[in-house]
Amino acid sequence: MIKVTFVSADGARRTVGIHEGLSAREAALHNSVPGIDGDCSGVCACATCNVHAMKPGPNGLGPRWTAEWKWI
Ligand code: FES
Repeated sequence: MIKVTFVSADGARRTVGIHEGLSAREAALHNSVPGIDGDCSGVCACATCNVHAMKPGPNGLGPRWTAEWKWI
């Protein structure tokens, strides 16, 4: 189980547990995170979901893996 914290535009934070392999969008929708609608089903056409990743570190993300370098 992975913990993901969603921070809304007004600064409200909500941490949810998700299973590995689930997208952030799916995690938000499965946990009814307010403000994330996912209107285009995750094809990056509606801009109703955005991700701002924290810098690598003890409370942030690990280094990118190979597939992430190709996508981002
Ligand atoms: S569902 Fe994420 S941009 Fe549309």
